[in-house]
Amino acid sequence: MTLKIPEHVAIIMDGNGRWAKSRGLPRIVGHYKGAEVAEDIVEYAVELGIKHMTLFTFSTENWNRPREEVNALFELLRQYLISKKRKLYELGIRVRFIGRKDRINKHLLSLMKEIEEESKENKNLVLNLAIDYGGRDDIVRAINKIIKEQPNKIDEETFSQYLDLSCSPDPDLLIRTAGEKRISNFLLWNLAYTELYFTDTLWPDFSREDFLKALEDFSRRKRKFGRVLDE
Ligand code: IPE
Ligand code: IPE
Ligand code: MG
Repeated sequence: MTLKIPEHVAIIMDGNGRWAKSRGLPRIVGHYKGAEVAEDIVEYAVELGIKHMTLFTFSTENWNRPREEVNALFELLRQYLISKKRKLYELGIRVRFIGRKDRINKHLLSLMKEIEEESKENKNLVLNLAIDYGGRDDIVRAINKIIKEQPNKIDEETFSQYLDLSCSPDPDLLIRTAGEKRISNFLLWNLAYTELYFTDTLWPDFSREDFLKALEDFSRRKRKFGRVLDE
């Protein structure tokens, strides 16, 4: 079978908490292991020639977790961005952040802006990190921008340009780990024709091999976009 490399892969990285719990460890340990896995999968995506990757890192609903967990997640993110940004640049990765910006600590926000700026010429892979991201919130923010700018006409294409993922095509493949079969308010507009792949593997256990399995499954899918395929 020839492997079809999707242009854009989105991932709901789920199961960090369960991974930690099953080992009698605090949930945050699962998040740290999950971050290492994310780093490796992103590197692998570059090797495979994938051009866009979007990782669900923190949802608009994740604020409802205990404060210690929320704080620890943002601290992990801050540490990771500082210690890994050079490596990301060397891999030719352009980093973009999608999601709300009004509830994020201003030091982290300026680090995010700096990384977007410093990586904007990189061409190998666009890495969209979804932080304080919700699909409904994305759509509502887009509508508010439209109301402000009052463009003459809105069609699907112009509407998409007001959404956070305006620099990437719609995802071809969505992977969700840890057995849950739901979208959890991820990219609602952009997933309209995305192929969905679910695996029971918990994110901290997710390997390059598991990623390849998802790509093989994707390669066998017949994407019809509403049409009739000539067999
Ligand atoms: C995903 O793992 C990471 C985030 C949502 C930040 P979870 O923390 O949701 O792990 P489970 O679902 O509790 O196992
Ligand atoms: C989705 O996972 C959010 C991220 C992976 C960042 P959740 O674990 O928050 O989703 P639910 O609560 O199980 O739907
Ligand atoms: Mg979860």
